[in-house]
Amino acid sequence: MSEMNEKKTRVAFVGSECYPFVKTGGLGDVMYALPRALVREGCEVRVFLPLYSCIPQKYKDQMNWKGSFMMDLTTDGRTFFVGIMELSMNGVIYDFIENREFFDWGNPYTGLWEDIPKYCYFSKAVLAALNYLEWIPDVIHCHDWQASLTPVYLRTRFAGTPVGAARSMLTIHNLRFQGICSIDHLKYWSGLPDDLFNYPVFKINENEANMFKGGLAFADRITTVSETYAHEIQTDFYGEGLNSHLSYHSVKLRGIVNGIDVEQWDSRTDALLPAPYGRENALAAKGENKLALQRRLGLEEDQGKFVIGLVSRLTDQKGLDLVDAIFEQMLDENTQVVVLGTGDPRYEGAFRYYESVHRGQVCSCIMYDESLAHLIYAGADALLVPSLFEPCGLTQLISMRYGTVPIVRETGGLKDTVAPFNPENGEGNGFTFDAYRADLLLDAVRRGREVYLGDRDRWNAIVLRDMDRDVSWTHSALQYLELYREG
Ligand code: ADP
Ligand code: GLC
Repeated sequence: MSEMNEKKTRVAFVGSECYPFVKTGGLGDVMYALPRALVREGCEVRVFLPLYSCIPQKYKDQMNWKGSFMMDLTTDGRTFFVGIMELSMNGVIYDFIENREFFDWGNPYTGLWEDIPKYCYFSKAVLAALNYLEWIPDVIHCHDWQASLTPVYLRTRFAGTPVGAARSMLTIHNLRFQGICSIDHLKYWSGLPDDLFNYPVFKINENEANMFKGGLAFADRITTVSETYAHEIQTDFYGEGLNSHLSYHSVKLRGIVNGIDVEQWDSRTDALLPAPYGRENALAAKGENKLALQRRLGLEEDQGKFVIGLVSRLTDQKGLDLVDAIFEQMLDENTQVVVLGTGDPRYEGAFRYYESVHRGQVCSCIMYDESLAHLIYAGADALLVPSLFEPCGLTQLISMRYGTVPIVRETGGLKDTVAPFNPENGEGNGFTFDAYRADLLLDAVRRGREVYLGDRDRWNAIVLRDMDRDVSWTHSALQYLELYREG
């Protein structure tokens, strides 16, 4: 059969967030970028998402009504409305599952007690919707714990139905979040058979069940977002209590590193930058963007300062205890620090404090702001990602694409994507450290600053090398495609 006549691989993506509709972190980026990359490789992709009320009206206005039906869910046979609203964008079809009871809360995540019923419903509704739409994919690619009941329903409640012919893949973006609750709560809301609430599937102790664990047991394939994280999660330290379970299932586990959407993140065409740039004018334009950043944030306007950026959810995952421990030592008269993030009040408070005592030198923007994120990626010299654990990490990829040098801890995807600078030959992409220790982070920052201030030619060579790096999805999308086709 010629390539032209070959049947297109059909993939259904199932996840709880997707840029530009709703995004709280990197999962939203991947749910946007990977389907687009797969469509470019000739796949047919539909992305299933909840129709949260927080999705901007401009997208809701573009959606078409595809139909509705009632679906049973709980052990006592309560039925729930399932509406399907559809929108097509750049060759990807987005199917939104509508149900006001579950998705009218505003933000996607509102607390585990409500989130468990919400995502039981969603994981099941997607399969019912696929049957309703009569669109049977080769693979149902599920993401994180919120979609992890889909592989379970697929092999149980939906086994004899048309969609039962599909295979399932479950991708771990972050093992920290697993969907743990009492066995009774999950049993009631999932309506799944009693015999699944045993140790090999959902059960984790006498009283509790774990949604992710069950999904991982039932999925035909498991992937995670870097090779290093695929190994790490089989160890005690990174395994979040599921290391043995994952080792047991390791024959079906693969690590495939994330990319970024290089159209979305393109410093040449980025409308959010005062001075867009390509490789040829990067060094000058980055200086201009730095000045714009300093002006916007009320920092001393000086192109010569070493500007360190941090764009992050403010949680302990991101290594912020290390940053907090060395903050004062990291600052010197040549250094400025810009923080953009929201999260744990203890980090928000700490960064606000540093700003208050170092006005003009430190700015902490405790908010979520896409446009400021773009300006930081373009205007900073270095980006700090000293994570405690990092399944992949996208901010270091974005920063390299924008010629901003990452300073990272060698863990998970950070280790796989940032080659350490080698002072012997000047090679490498960034400054790295291994053990989770504040003094090592401080040393990495100092090593970076020394090159920036003392050997600008070398620094500029790193900037350009980072911009040349292929951080697109192309290579990894092909790896996924290979797995989808493995049968
Ligand atoms: P995680 O998914 O663990 O939060 P990633 O590095 O994979 O980490 O992805 C984070 C994504 O969220 C990036 O696109 C980053 O630019 C974005 N981001 C994080 N915090 C903010 C913020 N406060 N404002 C704007 N974008 C943010
Ligand atoms: C998670 C991880 C992050 C990863 C992202 C996308 O949120 O914390 O490391 O880049 O998912 O896969």
